Amino acid sequence: MFFGSVKNCHNTKDFRNLAKKKLPGPIFHYIDGGADDEITKDRNTAAYDDCDLVPNVLAGVKDIDMSVTVMGQKIEMPLYCSPTALQRLFHHEGELAVARACEKFGTWSGLSSLGTVDIMRMHKEISSPKLFQLYYHKDKGLNNHMIELCKEANYEAIALTVDTITGGNRERDLHTGFTSPPKLTLNSLISFAIHPMWAFNYFTHEKFDLPQLSKFVNAGTNIAISVGDYFTKMLDQNMNWKDAEEINKKWGKHFCLKGIMSVEDAKKAVDIGATAIMVSNHGGRQLDGSRAPFDQLEEIVDAVGDKIDVICDGGIQRGTHVLKALSVGAKCCSGGKFYLYALGAGGQPAVEKALSNFRNEIERDMKLMGCSKISDLNRDNLRYREKYK
Ligand code: LAC
Repeated sequence: MFFGSVKNCHNTKDFRNLAKKKLPGPIFHYIDGGADDEITKDRNTAAYDDCDLVPNVLAGVKDIDMSVTVMGQKIEMPLYCSPTALQRLFHHEGELAVARACEKFGTWSGLSSLGTVDIMRMHKEISSPKLFQLYYHKDKGLNNHMIELCKEANYEAIALTVDTITGGNRERDLHTGFTSPPKLTLNSLISFAIHPMWAFNYFTHEKFDLPQLSKFVNAGTNIAISVGDYFTKMLDQNMNWKDAEEINKKWGKHFCLKGIMSVEDAKKAVDIGATAIMVSNHGGRQLDGSRAPFDQLEEIVDAVGDKIDVICDGGIQRGTHVLKALSVGAKCCSGGKFYLYALGAGGQPAVEKALSNFRNEIERDMKLMGCSKISDLNRDNLRYREKYK
């Protein structure tokens, strides 16, 4: 049973239900949807259910330390908010609401090239570690501009997105007509009219903008475009390992590749000097039918886990999902949907509640597992169900 308020959101599903009520349909479905038949999107979460935890007991677990060090930063919980785009569409405080919540919980927050708050403002307001998500555009001036701003603003790390070489086929967005900025069609007007609070907040706050991009391109800011079309038209489809290596050299600090799925690529990431990889399929929004990050984690950790931070990104809805990924050998987990539902459901207080739910779950689950620190988790705690052997 679910009683629609942030206070009553005890898990990701509750936040999803509340976001669905609060947001206009096209916006909710943009967050919630995946590519094609959404098989990968669903599998990202279901993968955790094919693996069971085996607890130990009598371990003296009164004091729990769930801190981890990832991309050179010690964070207070082993989960962070992956950078995602367009957040002021979901709540008028957008990325700042999320980053303020992350700051309170001592974890990384992200800012996308397609973010709605600018790099400098985030730097001025948020002191906890920030990860900038770089989309590699055809316009090299734009790429360099974003890297330079991140240097000036002293971001701790850049994540180069490597799984959006072309737009994924997001059929929900095709059905709803979702674009950035939102297009005023008859359907969207009806949807705004039945969500008057969202419409009031959207139209009475700072004008929607993609400040990282707006001085360079009109698409997405003044010209309405779907995210899939944006990727296909604006990003450089020739991006290759040499380009990634050059970006890393230009940047010179912690460098992450977001969207690595194969062992071969994980090894190349090490070769070009990346310090982290996010094992991710972009929340199932790009290549449907691709494997879940959790299913792919073991072979990647075995190949490069001692040379690079391996982060498991995607499908996380429960503290036990985090514990399973860490038991396999991930340094940390990250996700988008879990906090975007909360952002849409109620802004910063809701994101704080979502992070607090996770922190409480992780702490409780560690105690139930007989572990007082993250390094106590290992593969001996896990068993895979027969059919996956
Ligand atoms: C997405 C991008 C923008 O919609 O991250 O998946």
